[in-house]
Amino acid sequence: MSENKKVIFSGIQPSGNLTIGNYLGALKNWVKLQDEEEYDCYYCVVDLHAITVKQEPAELRRRTLEVLAIYIAAGLDVDKVTLFIQSHVKAHSEAQWLLNCSTYLGELQRMTQFKDKSAKYSNVGAGLLNYPVLMAVDILLYQTDLVPVGQDQKQHLELTRDLAQRFNNTYSDTFKIPEPYIPKEGAKIMDLQDPTKKMSKSAENPNGYIFIMDPPDVIRKKISRAVTDSLGVVKYDVENQPGVANLMTILSTLTGMSFEEIEKKYEGQGYANFKKDVGEAIVAELEPIQNKVKDILSDKKYLEEVYKKGAEKANYVANKTLRKMQKKIGLIPPAR
Ligand code: TYM
Repeated sequence: MSENKKVIFSGIQPSGNLTIGNYLGALKNWVKLQDEEEYDCYYCVVDLHAITVKQEPAELRRRTLEVLAIYIAAGLDVDKVTLFIQSHVKAHSEAQWLLNCSTYLGELQRMTQFKDKSAKYSNVGAGLLNYPVLMAVDILLYQTDLVPVGQDQKQHLELTRDLAQRFNNTYSDTFKIPEPYIPKEGAKIMDLQDPTKKMSKSAENPNGYIFIMDPPDVIRKKISRAVTDSLGVVKYDVENQPGVANLMTILSTLTGMSFEEIEKKYEGQGYANFKKDVGEAIVAELEPIQNKVKDILSDKKYLEEVYKKGAEKANYVANKTLRKMQKKIGLIPPAR
């Protein structure tokens, strides 16, 4: 098969509607990477991660399929990459237990995402704490080289590397040590209402985020309401003009224009035209994707074929690594 190709792995949680943060920080780069011949790519809908916080079962099922449809609609080619649903590959849950046993409590308690989320919910489940271990095995089971993610996942990637190295040192070489792949621009899209905070699918104010599936008029409205400042100058200055800098980042990642080009184009014009163009650039990118998502979701058989084929390949690769882990740890293989 593709033994000597570099491996890419990444995933998105179906825990809420996906935002343009997920799109620009992750998905758009996945699509770019698939065309670089040397990679063997695995993209997963991480449903087991989503249930670390309470999910309504019917909504979880709906979103899981919608995320898969968004992957395809955004341009991932089902003949080139492996798309699957995390819970269809049981090795993830099993390997997580094994790796859990060599993970320190302190390492997990230090994770920023755990600290943030555990402060937000009243009854904090153990899954929320163990979440990064599951993410680590997601990556390690495929002997992954590169993990394309947004900035907020960097700490989890560092932990993944530490856990892999510890396992390798204890039991001899088992895992490839993965590298993060974080884009220069778009790795941290900010909330439109509070541009000092990351845009998140779980933010309270809906004007703060744009969903990939937001209707065009909603997108235009949200951008026109985005917080800027009273300086009235389109300039990339994160410290003093975080709102404008965020909109410039969005425009730049969508159109390929550099910050200098954007500054020049809107010189002396205030914010109205600039904001209008940002809104239009997002609509131009997302509207065709939205139409495809609707088509794909209306063909459940097709989606089923995609995730069946994906799970077959993923199971094969993941089970190989899981068996290695079991053997090295000292578990007796079942009698045949
Ligand atoms: P999740 O579902 O929170 O986010 C999915 C991807 O979107 C990126 N992202 C952003 N990028 C830029 N700006 C933002 N505002 C923004 N918000 C989110 C995230 O960095 C991520 O790349 N733990 C992961 C899912 C996961 C995973 C994995 C990722 C599970 N197993 C294995 C990589 C490899 C998560 O919660 O992502």
